[in-house]
Amino acid sequence: MSTFTQERVPDPAGLRRALDERGYLADPGLVTALFLALRLPQPLLLEGEAGVGKTEAAKALADVLGGPLVRLQCYDGLDAAEALYEWNHARQLLGIRLAESRGERLAEADLFTEEYLLRRPVLTALTHPGPEPAVLLIDEIDRADDDFEAFLLEVLAEAAVTIPEVGTIRAVVPPVVVLTSNRTRDLHDALKRRCLYHWIDYPDPERLVRDRPPPGAGDLGGTRGGDLGGGTAAAHPGDPEGPGDRREHRLARGARPARRTAAGRRGRRGDPGHTAEVPGGPGTGAGTRPGVAGGQRP
Ligand SMILES: Nc1ncnc2c1ncn2[C@@H]1O[C@H](COP(=O)(O)OP(=O)(O)OP(=O)(O)O)[C@@H](O)[C@H]1O
Ligand SMILES: [Mg+2]
Repeated sequence: MSTFTQERVPDPAGLRRALDERGYLADPGLVTALFLALRLPQPLLLEGEAGVGKTEAAKALADVLGGPLVRLQCYDGLDAAEALYEWNHARQLLGIRLAESRGERLAEADLFTEEYLLRRPVLTALTHPGPEPAVLLIDEIDRADDDFEAFLLEVLAEAAVTIPEVGTIRAVVPPVVVLTSNRTRDLHDALKRRCLYHWIDYPDPERLVRDRPPPGAGDLGGTRGGDLGGGTAAAHPGDPEGPGDRREHRLARGARPARRTAAGRRGRRGDPGHTAEVPGGPGTGAGTRPGVAGGQRP
């Protein structure tokens, strides 16, 4: 973890508060996984059903760190030219014409330099100058062909990309890498070994949703902070963790007034420490076994 990140996110509790302030409600297990991803640092693979907050977790983390969110949306047929880098052929042609007009002759090596590279999301994140790290979101990796995962291994393990004509480009400030998957197919072990893993479960029915109603809540007659279809709204000016006018809502039917207990704040699954697994490192085979380490798969 860089000094910058350490100052901004000193401990898991601080990270949870910061996410909370930005309207992202994370379970203790997810907070621990995100914190470890920053501290080690190591890429984090998030899996879970649709809508549980995988993409949003990366967005909220970028917001907390203050750096850019660089998003790579994966799809069937995605290749390295779209994800990592591509040669800017138009610019190379212009370079040749320009040289000819000056009566110069360009050698091939002159045309394959960083100047003529188009930076796609992965290279953009690696070359972000900092000081705050970029968050590289590789979203829905399971939608890409399984061959594509091979292109990511160097990035995940070493925060670097090797371009045959140029050499290895290493990150100045290594990006925080978050991968998401809906588990429509199994990912390669090689990729999983390089990542921390966390399964984001559905929230408990009683989980408090504050500040930001879920999508479509407006249809239920709710404005921001309004009553969500029968839930009980209560203002907590004295809430030590939030702004004085923050409102809380229970989505559960027949909910009691939304007053949080210390146990509730700790989360319902107890000690956050057990939910994120730290693999033994690339190649050890002691890596992450989805469904075992972070959260329980339903
Ligand atoms: N923990 C959370 N705190 C606050 N909002 C959340 C949380 N989880 C999800 N949301 C909200 O739910 C919506 C869906 O979240 P998101 O897009 O991150 O889901 P996802 O897991 O990436 O789904 P998909 O697999 O379809 O991509 C977003 O509008 C987000 O704001
Ligand atoms: Mg998503």
